[in-house]
Amino acid sequence: MAHSSMKTVAKEFPVDAGVDRKDRQKLAKMLTRIVGSSHVLYAKTRGVHWNVVGPTFYSLHKMTEEHYEDLHVANDDMAERIRAIGFAAPTGITEMIEHSVITDQEKLLPANEMVKELVEDHEKMARLIRDGVAAAEEVEDVKTADLLTERIGVHEESAWMLRATIS
Ligand SMILES: [Fe+2]
Repeated sequence: MAHSSMKTVAKEFPVDAGVDRKDRQKLAKMLTRIVGSSHVLYAKTRGVHWNVVGPTFYSLHKMTEEHYEDLHVANDDMAERIRAIGFAAPTGITEMIEHSVITDQEKLLPANEMVKELVEDHEKMARLIRDGVAAAEEVEDVKTADLLTERIGVHEESAWMLRATIS
């Protein structure tokens, strides 16, 4: 059996669903930035979930759990969108960090400082994704635009909730 000739590595495949290749490639790059950023934010949110102490422990522990679960699901959908428009999704942490606009939390800080950073990160995500929606709309990829539009509101809401706990 010629199993050795089977191609099992993801590579670009032809898509003829109405959006030009160069436009899909541009959107795949944009989605890779969003997925990378979202993944770094996921990891930072877990860091707060695990390490928060003080009077806000319970509310922040619970809230961050809701947030990282949302980021986990959304990230899967957005990475799979990269595949659906014909390109390879990020392969691991290194590639995601490389493309992230969110800076990793390398040092343990007081909870309120880490939460303040999460607020800024969610706002950064909202701005990045807003650009993503504009890029998707420009080439009439309504599905990508739709997927991303939903995310803007979620990040704005997460920023509000986190900000309210440290105000
Ligand atoms: Fe937990």
